[in-house]
Amino acid sequence: MSQFNEVRRQFGSDNYAGMCPEALAALAKANHGHVRGYGDDPWTAEAVRLIREFFETECEVFFVFNGTAANALALASLCQPYHSILCHEMAHVEMDECGAPEFFSSGAKVRLLPGGNGKIDPGSIERMAAEGRGVHFPKTRAVSITQATELGTVYSPEELKAVGDTCRRLGLRLHMDGARFGNAVASLKVAQSEITWKSGVEVLCLGGSKNGMGLGEAVVFFSRELAQEFEYRRKQAGQLASKMRFLSAPWVGMLQEGAWLRHAEHANAMAAYLEKQLRGVPQVKQLFPRQANAVFAELPMELIQALWDRGWMFYQFVGKTGCRLMCAWDTTENDVDQFVGDIRALVSPG
Ligand SMILES: Cc1ncc(COP(=O)(O)O)c(C=O)c1O
Repeated sequence: MSQFNEVRRQFGSDNYAGMCPEALAALAKANHGHVRGYGDDPWTAEAVRLIREFFETECEVFFVFNGTAANALALASLCQPYHSILCHEMAHVEMDECGAPEFFSSGAKVRLLPGGNGKIDPGSIERMAAEGRGVHFPKTRAVSITQATELGTVYSPEELKAVGDTCRRLGLRLHMDGARFGNAVASLKVAQSEITWKSGVEVLCLGGSKNGMGLGEAVVFFSRELAQEFEYRRKQAGQLASKMRFLSAPWVGMLQEGAWLRHAEHANAMAAYLEKQLRGVPQVKQLFPRQANAVFAELPMELIQALWDRGWMFYQFVGKTGCRLMCAWDTTENDVDQFVGDIRALVSPG
């Protein structure tokens, strides 16, 4: 049974981490008595209320099991099969969702934009939206951005507003993949509303699992008309939890006393510490500005292999040697010290 007792924390992903105490306590609290299924329960009502309060608006909220479903179903509700969705070439919706946005939208095409530091900009959106020859090409309908990005950077409020304004002017719907939205809020130190609906975001996939929940994400429609019949879409996709309280109660634990932001701030602080410790190692070259809870760094291949051999887990993310080192809500300075200590020992043995 020793494999179940692995205690070492890793830098592979924020979803390697367990559940935070606040989410776990809410789950245990919800585990009493009988309540109605499928979301018609007090825990779900309270989670929805807290999310509305959190965004300072009467948004429509739907809980689903994971981020792929949240993104794919949200995007499907923006598009007809003959539409297209613009996103960054490294976007999770393109690289890591096995074509789910295309599948659930019954054929909408995902089109890719380049852009520095994992971000897209108004100019490239405008150029791409103008491509094609009328009915011969899928009509551009939506833009998807990720906040914080897949490369550990964040869109500033000004950048978001510029993207939002462009979408509005071109008649495009704006979706935000917020799997790490908490880390972006912690990094920017702004109100949630500023970098979502006030900047033109119409639907947000709000991440829970990467920030200390066991599972579950929330699809948050700020443009409420887009949520029409979403409950049918969710059910058809197998994403309607019968015992919904166990998906929604952890949100109550995360939001009611600020654990959601605290954990994100902590993960970001650990990434900042990791970045600082790595700066003194000449063999390690940082790749992108560190703005959230991940450090991206170029490591020599022999060093990567030697770290893996010592039991460290992390991903190659950009080519073979561009590595993603991700911190979680429970990463400690001691974890960072051990990891960087091993790097130092390996680059200058003896
Ligand atoms: C940017 C981004 N979006 C969404 C997700 C959610 O994906 P999943 O379907 O694994 O929950 C992830 C997880 O890795 C992610 O990094």
